[in-house]
Amino acid sequence: MTLEARAIGTPLDRFDGPAKVTGTARYAFEQPVENPAYVYPLQSTIATGRVTAVQTGAAEAVPGVLAVLTSRNAPRVASSDDPEIALLQTDEVTFRGQFVGAVVAETSEVARHAAALVRFDYLPVPHDVELRFDHPDRYAPEVVNGGFATDNERGDPEAALAGAAVRHEAVYTTPRYHHNPIEPHSTTALWADDRLTLYVGSQGVHRLRTSIAELFGLAEERIRVISPHVGGAFGSKLHAHADVSLAVLAAMSVPGRPVKLALTRQQMFSQVGYRTPSIQRIRLGADDAGRLVAVTHEAVQVTARNKEFAEQTVTPTRVMYAAPNRRTTHRMVRLDVSTPTIMRAPGKTPGMYALESAMDEMAIACGQDPVEFRITNEPSVDPELDRPFSSRNLVACLEEGARRFGWAGRDPAPRSRQEAGWLVGTGVAASMYPVYRLPGSAATIRLDPDGQYTVSIGAADLGTGTWTSLTQIAADALTVPVDRITLRIGDTDLPPAMAAGGSSGMTSWGSTVVEAARQLTTRLAEEYGGTVPATGIEVSVRMPENPEMERLSMYAFGAQFAEVRVHGETGEVRVPRLLGVFAAGRIINPKTARSQLLGGMTMGLSMALHEQAVIDPRFGHVVNQDLAEYHIATNADVGAVEVHLLPEDDPYVNPMGSKGIGELGIVGTAAAIANAAHHATGVRVRDLPVSLDHFL
Ligand code: MOS
Repeated sequence: MTLEARAIGTPLDRFDGPAKVTGTARYAFEQPVENPAYVYPLQSTIATGRVTAVQTGAAEAVPGVLAVLTSRNAPRVASSDDPEIALLQTDEVTFRGQFVGAVVAETSEVARHAAALVRFDYLPVPHDVELRFDHPDRYAPEVVNGGFATDNERGDPEAALAGAAVRHEAVYTTPRYHHNPIEPHSTTALWADDRLTLYVGSQGVHRLRTSIAELFGLAEERIRVISPHVGGAFGSKLHAHADVSLAVLAAMSVPGRPVKLALTRQQMFSQVGYRTPSIQRIRLGADDAGRLVAVTHEAVQVTARNKEFAEQTVTPTRVMYAAPNRRTTHRMVRLDVSTPTIMRAPGKTPGMYALESAMDEMAIACGQDPVEFRITNEPSVDPELDRPFSSRNLVACLEEGARRFGWAGRDPAPRSRQEAGWLVGTGVAASMYPVYRLPGSAATIRLDPDGQYTVSIGAADLGTGTWTSLTQIAADALTVPVDRITLRIGDTDLPPAMAAGGSSGMTSWGSTVVEAARQLTTRLAEEYGGTVPATGIEVSVRMPENPEMERLSMYAFGAQFAEVRVHGETGEVRVPRLLGVFAAGRIINPKTARSQLLGGMTMGLSMALHEQAVIDPRFGHVVNQDLAEYHIATNADVGAVEVHLLPEDDPYVNPMGSKGIGELGIVGTAAAIANAAHHATGVRVRDLPVSLDHFL
């Protein structure tokens, strides 16, 4: 049964908006603590090898320096299972920029100055940081992120390709991407009386606590993680990274004294994960009517030498289109680099760039309009699992998008439209994102005699709007106005909640809060005859299961349309117009949802045109490691971006009828832009970004 909507569907302003714009919302580094000390990291200057000697005397002699930590004197950790966070335990260096020490001092300036005086000698060994499709060390991981199968095959793709009337084969590449949230990763840490208090911008305080507890061998009850506000994350603040563990080591070296650590923008490029570069080969075969008979999609990507993160890049190809014969595979190469991680729509973003580019090329090869070609290949059931979708409105998104964008009458010929020296083209691509529901959330609701409800759950607001939208869900579940709800999130003292990842937050937390509301309402009626006792009442629940998830495949879909102009002489690329039409179930808050999708599309535009981390193979580090050199889209790069949400009724996904929208907006955007650039110029860009040199 779907919850009756009252507050749900209302475009409420963010409750935390005024605090944020007036600067009173406190982020991790700004938390007021008594007499803090400051931490500055020391980073390796070789990519692989080991530290042979350390000289700390000059740094220790600087007035105001409290401690210089290296592998020689750092506190020992209890577990080295996660080498990304088990810092300063050995002399081994596995990537350039790895933390090999830290200075703790009275001020951040003294810490930074003294850091420059610490001297390391190294014994380097040769390194390899370059991904190649046929790299001799490539291997198949056991599973990929999210627990998906590494490989998947059905039918006989080779025979089907051999017999296909129309064939397309191409290799697409995406570079390494960095999340670059505007709030740098920062921690305020206090180690006192064998208890650890951490203020960290985090996508999930309980998950972070578990990682730190395991690393240091501490009982979870002895650690408190607090994270009321997060200044953007995009996946970089979900798993614990080296910055948090370094802050804890520093705090342990000055017990009783709080320490603060904020990474610089440059340090973020080696410490907090990134999206793996990918090399993807796609082969498509179709019959005379443009129906796909075979699809193969192989991805080769990077992980760190000592820690595996395998992105699920080919998974969208398993569900997007009907094709009786299919093979999809992931292969990894271990390189001497830091560990990649999830980044907005992991797997789906690079995978759909390649698939939706290939679909555009195949539509042309089949002589079909690219909107029509996708509709021709729409599956009636999930092609991977042969089960129905709970709802799937890709075709409606494509049709509504074509209507709104003015697609009809488009001349399919490349270079058919020229305006004052600019070649103008339009392109389309599909978007998709799964409905995840991650186990492990619990919630408490308390009703006081004054009629006020307190809803407690260790959820996170990454800037996405959780403070507001989760309150809207609670209000409707309790059938009261939003001002009767006090929401508490972002603290391990609250009931445990699954992290904000995979756009699962609203589904996981919302389902839990709705169940708590149901139990509280029932108890109030049955045990108290509807009258709140003087002591108030409180219920605690765990997230209920959704048996429909076994029977149905659950995804949100969308269609991305782009207009691209490429200057005929200079190759300058502009995107004056983007339109995204999405079907993502019922929308909890149309204002914050639109912002999420708008932000996702803008990040997709940024990926299409600008973003690219460049590694120097001689030294192994990202050379463009700041926002001056790692280009992200700014206001001047973004034209009109329109988001349109189709009404979609899905009673199966969760009690709200909602699907996640945090990641959907980025998926497909880069392909729509690359496809439009091809339509404008006749040049097919298969290696992102779509930069001007492709057109000269
Ligand atoms: Mo999202 S990249 O799963 O935090």
